[in-house]
Amino acid sequence: MSMVTVTAPANIAFIKYWGNSKNNLPLNPSISMTLSSCVTTTTVSSAEKEEDLIFIENEGGEVSELKKDSIKNIKAYEQIERVKNIAGFKGFLTVSSKNSFPSMAGIASSASGFCALTSGVVLFTGLNNIFNDKKELSKLVRLSGSASASRSVHNGFVELKTGKSEDESFAVEIAPPDHWSLCDVIAVVSSKSKKTPSSEGHLLALTSPYLKTRIHEMQKRIGLVREAILNRDLEKIGICAEQDTISMHAVMMTSIPPLYYFTEGTMSVIHQVFKLRSSGLAVYFSIDAGANVHLICEKKDEKKVVEEFSRNEFVEKTIVNYPCPGVCQL
Ligand code: PMV
Repeated sequence: MSMVTVTAPANIAFIKYWGNSKNNLPLNPSISMTLSSCVTTTTVSSAEKEEDLIFIENEGGEVSELKKDSIKNIKAYEQIERVKNIAGFKGFLTVSSKNSFPSMAGIASSASGFCALTSGVVLFTGLNNIFNDKKELSKLVRLSGSASASRSVHNGFVELKTGKSEDESFAVEIAPPDHWSLCDVIAVVSSKSKKTPSSEGHLLALTSPYLKTRIHEMQKRIGLVREAILNRDLEKIGICAEQDTISMHAVMMTSIPPLYYFTEGTMSVIHQVFKLRSSGLAVYFSIDAGANVHLICEKKDEKKVVEEFSRNEFVEKTIVNYPCPGVCQL
């Protein structure tokens, strides 16, 4: 095979995972929706040099080699090695990726990126049986260190289960994309890369005195969100998503050293959500490890949401997403 191209969507978690156990398993289960407009396209081919190389194309079309200068970047090269070892593949690979959205800005670029990278290498090295078994693929994607990436394997609404061993932590589909025309309008208040990537943040979670409380109080929410998805209950999923966002950011802000991802723009959008909700517009917020705000609403209100938040002085642009298929081979 001369080359393989795959696409993988990012996802927004309504129940978020923050913090890893010692054996690198997520400390809590998480539930998300795939994002149709936030997609990574990755092509894998044989390398000309005697080493694996990853290239990233930015939004402006500039291509640069991924340097091994952060935990996340090193993990990307380790993931290529991991998959090659499973396949018994002896050659070297070139992996070229492009995102359709701002990278490293709290829009889960690592989810789409690690899912596409793993899947592309899996297919290129002939592990088609793993690619076709989405439970196994999600386990392998999770080993990359970006657990959220394993949720991008599946279509639509997805849960990542956690457990005591690697074999117990995998992603499952809760409902397909056409189950519910839920909409995620991302209000981009900063396209800049965040200072602390989630790979570093997960390690800090264990230093927060609030972490235990979060893990305890969120248990009930997991069932509520599953139920809200199955019953297409926007109010229930919206309230849970907001509670879970604040709970996760409380852990971030109380870790040592503290992590503050919210900016003035983030707070302005949050206040606007409350104001619009009290005037009757059903819109809720969710925020990952970044400043940008995901506005959750139904498709019927999408235009109004885009219109209202585009007027906010902090909002650079909006990105409209619907639930979509998970990883696909082109
Ligand atoms: O999968 P990671 O290591 O990129 O971490 C994702 C963390 C959050 O986006 C903040 C939450 C989540 O579950 O997506």
